[in-house]
Amino acid sequence: MCGIVGYLGKREALPVIIKGLKRLEYRGYDSAGVAMLNGNLEIVKKKGKVSDLEAEIGTKKLDATLGIGHTRWATHGEPNDKNAHPHSSADGKLAIIHNGIIENYSSIKKELELSGHVFKSDTDSEVLIHLIEEIKRQNQCSIDEAVRLALNEVVGAYAIVVLSKDDDRMMIAARKGSPLVIGIGEGEFFVASDATPIIEYTNNVTYLNDREMAVIKDGSLTVKNLENVTKTPFIQKLELDLEDIEKGGYPHFMLKEIFEQPKSVRDAMRGRLVSREHHLFMSGMDQYLNRFINADRLILIGCGTSWHAGLIGEYLFEELSRVPVEVEYASEFRYRNPVVREQDIVIAVSQSGETADTLAAIELAKSKGALIFGVCNVVGSSIARIADAGAYLHAGPEIGVASTKAFTSQVTILAMMAMYLGLKKGTISMSQYQELLLGLDSIPDKVTKILSKADEILTISKSFYQARNFLYLGRGFNFPVALEGALKLKEISYIHAEGYPAAEMKHGPIALIDEDMPVVFIATKDSSYEKVISNIQEVKARKGKVIAIVTEGDTEIKSMADFTFEIPSISDALVPLLAVVPLQLLSYHIAILRGCNVDQPRNLAKSVTVE
Ligand code: AGP
Ligand code: GLU
Repeated sequence: MCGIVGYLGKREALPVIIKGLKRLEYRGYDSAGVAMLNGNLEIVKKKGKVSDLEAEIGTKKLDATLGIGHTRWATHGEPNDKNAHPHSSADGKLAIIHNGIIENYSSIKKELELSGHVFKSDTDSEVLIHLIEEIKRQNQCSIDEAVRLALNEVVGAYAIVVLSKDDDRMMIAARKGSPLVIGIGEGEFFVASDATPIIEYTNNVTYLNDREMAVIKDGSLTVKNLENVTKTPFIQKLELDLEDIEKGGYPHFMLKEIFEQPKSVRDAMRGRLVSREHHLFMSGMDQYLNRFINADRLILIGCGTSWHAGLIGEYLFEELSRVPVEVEYASEFRYRNPVVREQDIVIAVSQSGETADTLAAIELAKSKGALIFGVCNVVGSSIARIADAGAYLHAGPEIGVASTKAFTSQVTILAMMAMYLGLKKGTISMSQYQELLLGLDSIPDKVTKILSKADEILTISKSFYQARNFLYLGRGFNFPVALEGALKLKEISYIHAEGYPAAEMKHGPIALIDEDMPVVFIATKDSSYEKVISNIQEVKARKGKVIAIVTEGDTEIKSMADFTFEIPSISDALVPLLAVVPLQLLSYHIAILRGCNVDQPRNLAKSVTVE
């Protein structure tokens, strides 16, 4: 994971890099470092956040117009000063920052040790810079040629930037499996893991493809692949506003993103759903409409929250488009020799579009002939680019590590896809279609209404923030919501939480229930309402504490639950879009009451680009 940033131009590089690292800090935050080149190659690195690095830099003079910076999410070697990036070569003349994993680092390291290389860190990344140095020495070649030859020996994933003390007007970058974007300004260049460090200086960017490298030298950019074939970079204009990546008055990105949901859901529907005319347009599906109509099976693939959205997708596609659906954890699917046929359609759900497991899973499915459809947020991301077709979320940057607005946008897109397919296949009645269309159109206002009562969730949170465990229960469309509610709580408050289908409780988890166990029921008025009431009674009978998300006007559950929170009424299939919002707020407030860092929870990173 990790964030990398590089600058070569006419400005002071350090402030550009530090600001960029702060923007990328969501990608990893266990240590950070910079290398600045101005005659000398100065490296400063420190365990902890970018602010710890700033303190370490203090008043050191690091004047330079060329530099690189890294914020780490450790894979090889514990998070400490020596393992922080940048790493340097044995002679101290080369520096590297690396995002990813060099899988064959151990055999390369052994060989290099035999030739006398001594390593200062435990990382795989340091091995790569020594390998580059060794190849350069043996071949007496240029540094960019040495980088190219070294990368041909490497197995694994990387985005790297390399500096050489002998050339203070050159920066070399390369990628395979980890994202890298190059910003092109007036006489200046930027390299970063995503566009956020670049946007305030230029909106001309180019994304490197896998196995491509960029040599920025003497004011010009050359892109070539690892076979040494020169490529013409595709320069595109970024559509990203600075205010999208700032907190905009909210104390945390997560809260800002929760409150953005009326807009982000609307943006997912923009240009696709025209409720006045009762029309849906899913242009990404149109290209392959016959394949969708004739698909034997849909396979929805994702990880974490995106997998939960996929699970709701299963219920939606089965109900509305009558097609068999499987939902797969990308990490399991890719290693299982799965049966994939040419008539299958794989829908990859990913906010970042960079999740390594999801990427590998769709590469596998593609090699077996399946059509790949991407449901991604980040435009130009690896998954979006490998997919045959897709639908972007248009949710804007999601920076809080805990996914919130991306989830509701994913579910919105999947709901529109299922309706569209149902309509084309004739498996959905006109009245059901129109009800859902109007229902979707009403979501932004209904979410606004829920958000206007956020204080009620704060009150509930005050009663439970010291709990050690939580259960989340729901049935049907609300079962994945229970899973998502539990994941949100675990991620940011470090309270152990489990999500279950409510009816499964009696097959095991009921043994956990006592007066210290809060149980969150998603108990809206749907087809399983009566059954959920019985499950609530079973919890109350064992002295469990019940927090219930109910439909507006519900009095029955109110009389038995310890706390209730009302959400507006909506069709069963769309309830997740409303029910998840109070659960996001519950996890947020509980985490804040416990003093946790909600935007950067421990051990996590936003974009999981390692297996
Ligand atoms: C969500 O809160 C998590 N941080 C995590 O589960 C995330 O959803 C998962 O890593 C998938 O990421 P993606 O959507 O970017 O592929
Ligand atoms: N594998 C490298 C390390 O552990 C880079 C990890 C990252 O992408 O942050 O240092």
